[in-house]
Parts: sequence; C-alpha cells; structure tokens
Amino acid sequence: MPKKIIAGNWKQNGNLKSSVTLTKGTISALARMKCKHEVIIFPPSVYLIPIQKLVSKKIKLGSQNVSAYDDGAFTGEISASMLKDLKVNYCLVGHSERRHIINETERALSGKVTRLFENNIRIIYCIGETLEEYKGRKTKTILRNQINSLIKQNKGNLKKHPKNLTLAYEPVWAIGTGLVPSMSELSDIFSFIRSTLNKVDSCYSSIKILYGGSVTPDNAAELMKTNHMDGLLVGGASLISKKFIDICSTI
Ligand code: 13P
Repeated sequence: MPKKIIAGNWKQNGNLKSSVTLTKGTISALARMKCKHEVIIFPPSVYLIPIQKLVSKKIKLGSQNVSAYDDGAFTGEISASMLKDLKVNYCLVGHSERRHIINETERALSGKVTRLFENNIRIIYCIGETLEEYKGRKTKTILRNQINSLIKQNKGNLKKHPKNLTLAYEPVWAIGTGLVPSMSELSDIFSFIRSTLNKVDSCYSSIKILYGGSVTPDNAAELMKTNHMDGLLVGGASLISKKFIDICSTI
C-alpha cells in the first residue's frame, strides 16, 4: 500500500516546553506503533530549531510559511534557503488563514512555491472554498481556478518535480468548526481534483491529495475511505499527542 501522509499543523499555538513535549511524545508513540506512513509536523517557525534536533526518521519537519523572495531586505520574513539550512522537508502554502486573514495573493503564493521548488522543499498547497462559495455551489469553480493558477505559474518546476507538490483540500468552513463535508461530497470533490490534474497533464497523476478540516480520531478512518484521498492535514487535534497518534493509528 502506498504511504499515506498525516500532517499536523500546530498553527500559532503552544510554547517551547509544550512543543518539545508534543514532539517527543509523538515520536515515541510512532516508534511503538511502527507507523509506516509519512508523518509531518508543522510547528511555529521559532520552534523549528529546537524541534529539528529531536526529529528522527519517524517524523518529517515542516514550516507553516516561507518568504516569496530570495534573501534580502524583507524584514520579518524567512527564506526557503534558511528553511533548507534547518533541513525542513515540507512547507505549507496557500492555507486559508494566510489567504483570508493575512490576505496573501495568488502572486505571493506563486513566489513561495517557486522559492520552495528552487530549494527542493516539498510543498503542501492548500485549496478550498469559503462557506459563501460552498452555499453558492461554486466549490468546483474555486478549486479549478486555484489549481490552474498554481499550475500556470509553476509549470516548468512542476513538470520536472511533480512529486514535490501535494495538494490539501481544506474547505474554509470546515476548519476549526467541527463540520466536515459528507462522504458523497468528498468523493465527488476528490474525483474532481484528480481529474482536473490529469486533464492538465498526465505527469500530475503522482500528486497526492490530502483532506483537512475538523479531522478527529473519530472521523479519520471514515474520511480516509474516500477514493483518491492520500492523507490528512490535521489542525486542532494535532496539538494533543494522543489524538494525533490515534489518528495515525486508525489509518
Ligand atoms: P482543524 O483540524 O483544527 O479544523 O484545522 C485544519 C487545518 O487548518 C489544518 O491546516
């Protein structure tokens, strides 16, 4: 069975002590259960250095953000080459909180993707519709536009390294709300995403697709029955080691 991905996005939560405890607890539990899947944690940027010292083969390290620019006068930003220095394996781009709260544009997202490709850091690119768009039955139009924009602006890199990209479908209305799409909605959307990628180029068939939004130990196994779903991007439940491990063990 191909490896599934289980990723924990800690967002802006915790402190140094709790982040170290959470990492250690997660790593030792994964070792005990002989987890065969790819498990990635995304701590806040300031904790990447102490956590990088703890990570082993059992777990991959991800950054929640990256600068759209190469090194230079960009106060407060962290470049892809700096992340590479820390042996960061993955980076999130396009998360709805960055699109809608920080107001990141498609152009900024494209710059981030390019910098990550240049530094050989794997990208988890988030896409998803708002509640208003969902109610207006615009989900597929939004997803198609987000995917096409990503591909159009990064065609060369994507063709060379399609495996460096993973998509994460995260409906904005499902994030932190306890709401999840129905199984038939998810099945329809995942088939749509897969066929949209295949229509652009058959070389994109290797791109994995994750689901994120109110994933818990109780719904993870059911969600993973969805066709074309290659893993989960977990928010709140990844902050509690037992819950995150329970999610990993149900898959
Ligand atoms: P929740 O699992 O808390 O809904 O968050 C999902 C998410 O945004 C992961 O990136």
